[in-house]
Amino acid sequence: MNNDRIVIFDTTLRDGEQCPGASMNLKEKMSVAHQLSRLGVDVIEAGFPVISDGDFAAVHQIASEVENSKIAGLARCVAKDIEAAGKAVAPAGVRGRIHVFLATSRIHREHKLGKAQDQIIKLAAEGVAQARTMVEDVEFSPEDASRTEPDFLVDVCRAAIDAGATTLNIPDTVGFAIPDQYFRLIKHLYDNIVEFQTGKALISVHCHNDLGLAVANSLAAISAGARQIECTVNGIGERAGNAALEEIVMALKTRQDYFGQYKLGIHSREIVKTSRLVARMSGLSVQRSKAIVGENAFAHSSGIHQDGILKKRETYEIIDPEEVGWGLTELPLTKHSGRAAVSSRLKHLGYKVSEDDLAAVFSRFKEVGDKKKFVYDDDLAALVEGHLTVVPETWKLEYLHVTSGTATIPTATVRISKLDSDKKSVQSFQDAGVGDGPVDAALKAIDRLTKVRGKLLNYNIRAVSQGKDALGEVNIQADFGDGKLIPGRGAGTDIVEASARAYLNAVNRHLYNARQAKQKVTDTAQ
Ligand code: KIV
Ligand code: ZN
Repeated sequence: MNNDRIVIFDTTLRDGEQCPGASMNLKEKMSVAHQLSRLGVDVIEAGFPVISDGDFAAVHQIASEVENSKIAGLARCVAKDIEAAGKAVAPAGVRGRIHVFLATSRIHREHKLGKAQDQIIKLAAEGVAQARTMVEDVEFSPEDASRTEPDFLVDVCRAAIDAGATTLNIPDTVGFAIPDQYFRLIKHLYDNIVEFQTGKALISVHCHNDLGLAVANSLAAISAGARQIECTVNGIGERAGNAALEEIVMALKTRQDYFGQYKLGIHSREIVKTSRLVARMSGLSVQRSKAIVGENAFAHSSGIHQDGILKKRETYEIIDPEEVGWGLTELPLTKHSGRAAVSSRLKHLGYKVSEDDLAAVFSRFKEVGDKKKFVYDDDLAALVEGHLTVVPETWKLEYLHVTSGTATIPTATVRISKLDSDKKSVQSFQDAGVGDGPVDAALKAIDRLTKVRGKLLNYNIRAVSQGKDALGEVNIQADFGDGKLIPGRGAGTDIVEASARAYLNAVNRHLYNARQAKQKVTDTAQ
């Protein structure tokens, strides 16, 4: 094998976003897409355009704005899907890719599709051929490939290549594969399809983590001839997630002695920054002990280890933390920092904010700067996030006062203002609520004021940065009576205030979704 370039195909914005509770709005997706391009991923799978107008718009805007990476749109083997994907990626020109998929395993053929093998082959070839009328670059995925009969898989791949696909992705859709077995499947395809040997077509792999083997399976596939790895930042994705980009990249870089010297386009120093951005934008926080990007990944607590590290870092560290972007934070900002400093730090952190958003973030920054000596990068990220996730703000928190204690009934007085579409306050409303605790009391007061009744289903709080004056960041999920889980985020030096902000964020999101749905019904009726 002479091709030593590994293509990194990132599907954070498609498979990652499919993860329950992870859905991102357009601004959030744009920030992530720009950062993925800075990270150096070769292909960004930006979404599944036919699924919704929002998905189409996101793929289209990413294809219009994001430079360097190829932009892919997913499509079932269905004409309207392929058409939508082709239109959505069109602004990327030659960097546009359509990714067509069709299930091939016996269980999917018989129980999901009701199709025989020859029908599947025909459909796959037709889908790829249709996609080729719209773009040069077509990828085909036989869904549930790892549970498909290997010889049938060879036939499907051949048909897709003959129809014009140049990337053949072999998904382990349900995370069923075992590294040695997956190696043999990929090798079987490589040995039996001449286009893989000549480099005319490329084998890709897409592994899910149901057995915790997604990264191991992806690496085994490289040894068998795969040259594209599909993965997500922080390993987010359907169910137990996808192979984690950061783990794949760092395994290949760190163990060149084992894998050989593969070429990658990834700028590894951007990894931690990208991980944090994705965690914030998706609302899925990273577990502390997560490899490479978890807060404990390079923390040494035992005395023996600390002693070893001080004598020679490599005694207990296989990666220099700076190589993946740890320890590269800049001096914290203070209340004296100006708008330009805040704007440039936001850019450095990967956020793309409009002038309006910057004005709002800067005013929150000043409020927080008055209460806190230093505003760290993570504090700033928590503040900006509140604005990127507002869609748009209908209600805005103006004032909050709580009384609570062991011998008193927790009570909250809340004043909120209703904003018009120019974000100018039109009217203020004030009310009070009592509850089981100060947070409950504040949320009840908000319910009375907004006349929206939410059920709090998940509530998470964490300190964003260091010190006793650290910002508290609250992430919640609420159900407003339609069975949908609506996320909300908020930050503040006071945790009751952060909770109220997070709840209002969810209320605003819920109201925005309802307006959008109503608009859609009106448009369709006209
Ligand atoms: O897991 C899977 O099979 C997929 C395909 C659409 C590639 O996500
Ligand atoms: Zn998948």
